[in-house]
Amino acid sequence: MNKRPIVIDCDPGVDDALAIVLANACPELEVKAINPVAGNVPYSSTSENTLRLVDYLGMDCRVGKGADRPLLLERFTAGKVHGLDGLGGYVLPKGSKDFDEKNAWDVLYEEAVKAKGELELIILGPCTNVAIALKAYPELENLIKSVTLMAGTRGKGNTNLFAEFNVRVDPHATQIVLDSKIKEKYMCGLDGNLTVALTREEGDEIFGVESRITEFTDYIAKFIDHRNKSMWNLTVNNINDLCAMACMIDPSIAEYSDVNCHIECFNMESIGQTVISEEGEKNLHYLIKADKERYMDMLKEMMRYYK
Ligand code: BDR
Ligand code: CA
Repeated sequence: MNKRPIVIDCDPGVDDALAIVLANACPELEVKAINPVAGNVPYSSTSENTLRLVDYLGMDCRVGKGADRPLLLERFTAGKVHGLDGLGGYVLPKGSKDFDEKNAWDVLYEEAVKAKGELELIILGPCTNVAIALKAYPELENLIKSVTLMAGTRGKGNTNLFAEFNVRVDPHATQIVLDSKIKEKYMCGLDGNLTVALTREEGDEIFGVESRITEFTDYIAKFIDHRNKSMWNLTVNNINDLCAMACMIDPSIAEYSDVNCHIECFNMESIGQTVISEEGEKNLHYLIKADKERYMDMLKEMMRYYK
């Protein structure tokens, strides 16, 4: 079987970590690179977490050196949401994995060239690395088969009233990705992701089953559950990056609507808002909902991989 080559851009981040666990377990995928970027926590932590995760999961992929700040705005992090280290206080062992000698944007370009038009890209953090790549390599947009972004919302934001975190951190970079000619662009936003949010019991049923990584998955899932209850009084857990990864792996679990989307880049009150409309030129498939039963089956299958 020819595997699907993918590059993951991310800012681990508790939910990024679970998304990487899923990608690694998927027999159809070949993860070529995982490129860290500043986001949930400072770059020093997202990059170290990426290296340690790759080692912990025994992955053989490149880790490019990413951007340590957004294109234009000041740094903006969410340490309270992910723990100051990004992994809710879970300390993964330091292994031998080191950064690629190239930067994230060069790694992405090289992998896109090698994949000859078949590369799928998923962005689980701010779009900074990818925006830099698109500007540095104008032909890159024609080499990427699809891009899936965990980004945006059609409802209330999770940073200011309007903006989802990843877009709020680097709205200009997100707009560059939207403006690119990458043929298929998918966006999994907060509202669509919520349709597969898990209860604590469902989370235990999935992430608590015995495997060689249960200590980690169970810890992270419980951290998310505890945080959602204590910070936002939520009884369900929307694990945003995990939902986006699942929808990228198997688009048949996802229902998208074709929309026009642009990012508010100037008004500081609503900066980072994903302005989405059914009118105008369609430039994006926006996630409406995903099939929760099939999503949960996929996650149970993932845990069986680590038995
Ligand atoms: C997104 O921002 C981060 O908190 C998560 O990792 C996810 O990528 C949700 O707004
Ligand atoms: Ca993320």
